[in-house]
Amino acid sequence: MSKLRCVKGMHDILPEDMPKWHYLENCYRNLVSDYGYEEIRTPILESLDLFVRGIGESTDIVEKEMYAFEDKGNAKLALRPEGTASVIRAFLQNNLEALTPVSKLYYIGPMFRRERPARGRYRQFYQAGAELIGIEDATADAELIGMAVTFVKTLGIQNVNVQINSLGDPETRPAYRNALVQFFSKKKEQLCNDCVRRLDTNPLRILDCKVEACSIAAQEAPNVFDYLSDDAHSHFSDLQQLLSLHDVNFTVVPTMVRGLDYYTRTIFEIQGGADILGAQSTIVGGGRYNGLVKQLGGRNTPTIGFAFGIERLLLLLGDNAKESVKPTVFVAGVGEGGLERTIRVSRQLRNCNFKVEAPYKNGSLRSQLKRADKSSAVVAVIAGADEALQNAVTIRNMQNGEQQIVPLDELEPKIRELM
Ligand code: HAM
Repeated sequence: MSKLRCVKGMHDILPEDMPKWHYLENCYRNLVSDYGYEEIRTPILESLDLFVRGIGESTDIVEKEMYAFEDKGNAKLALRPEGTASVIRAFLQNNLEALTPVSKLYYIGPMFRRERPARGRYRQFYQAGAELIGIEDATADAELIGMAVTFVKTLGIQNVNVQINSLGDPETRPAYRNALVQFFSKKKEQLCNDCVRRLDTNPLRILDCKVEACSIAAQEAPNVFDYLSDDAHSHFSDLQQLLSLHDVNFTVVPTMVRGLDYYTRTIFEIQGGADILGAQSTIVGGGRYNGLVKQLGGRNTPTIGFAFGIERLLLLLGDNAKESVKPTVFVAGVGEGGLERTIRVSRQLRNCNFKVEAPYKNGSLRSQLKRADKSSAVVAVIAGADEALQNAVTIRNMQNGEQQIVPLDELEPKIRELM
């Protein structure tokens, strides 16, 4: 029988890796809470329509990468490829707008895209994201970008490159789109098949194509800044000034477009660790998406957000950053009634907040101490029959083997002394 394995491009996250995940997730939760963000958890499965309408029919994500299927009741569903559309759906469905004029929501969770697997690119991956709903001013853009950069720096990742651009508003987009169509129509024979198709469906995406011939063809393409409205221009120049108040160094990249159709005005990416991540060195992506709430059935509401790829950050962090793991106390039982005593002592110690390992059946002291060693216990508590007569146990320092008899009511401070 062939061995069962997890799906290609998906991974188990093993207990040995968890301290790093917890460390990163806790840093993220702490930081975004300090900016007033609250957690939201949305289902992993949503109706397919949400992503088609939200992300855009002609994006790679929707066209090629989504895990979409019909369930047994013929409902068309999809595993979420990103968090933003779901958060806005939840915002509308639960009428969060009625609670506060501004919603600041964050999330951490798995996303699914059927991409070609590579280092830092998986078919199930985790994002930590944040969405700020209800503010249109560039102060919000600057604070959000500043928060993302601060997070990366808090993790100790220093060499990052923040890239920003503006895509303007839906009203000025058609003129820019037409200019791109005219420009690329003349270079059709240089473009890859996907981009020839994009000429009709989504010409902005040609600027983002990774095929070398297409990047070369795009070099002289019309500049988005020639097509921004006055408002969009001043929003973008305000943003650039405000970013310095947040200590963010940045580069303006007029050809950046991003892979989701909902963006308006500001878009940004943080790149870093190309030596480790190669082509997957975009560690955060985000931007404004002022049209999405309305598009999904709500009122016109300005919105901006970002998401990090957690695996990419962890690859950059290496083994240094992790949550400290509590040391283990092993409780061994010897003599008549030994197993029962281990249960009582273990409960006493767990009530004092110790991490405790105990045997599940009677065994020799030697075999139990071997297990204590294997579980990297710092202290072993030996609950023997003789000590029990004096309401005491023996504690053993597992580093040097020294032992002492300790009354049960002095156990907690004595163990803490050894940790
Ligand atoms: P995105 O650029 O598609 O944006 O993804 C954000 C981040 O998720 C990427 O920068 C990358 O670190 C990570 N990521 C994406 N795909 C993969 C993958 N296949 N494997 C590993 N990591 C991956 C969004 O998803 C938007 N929802 C961001 C946003 C929030 N915009 C506004 N609000």
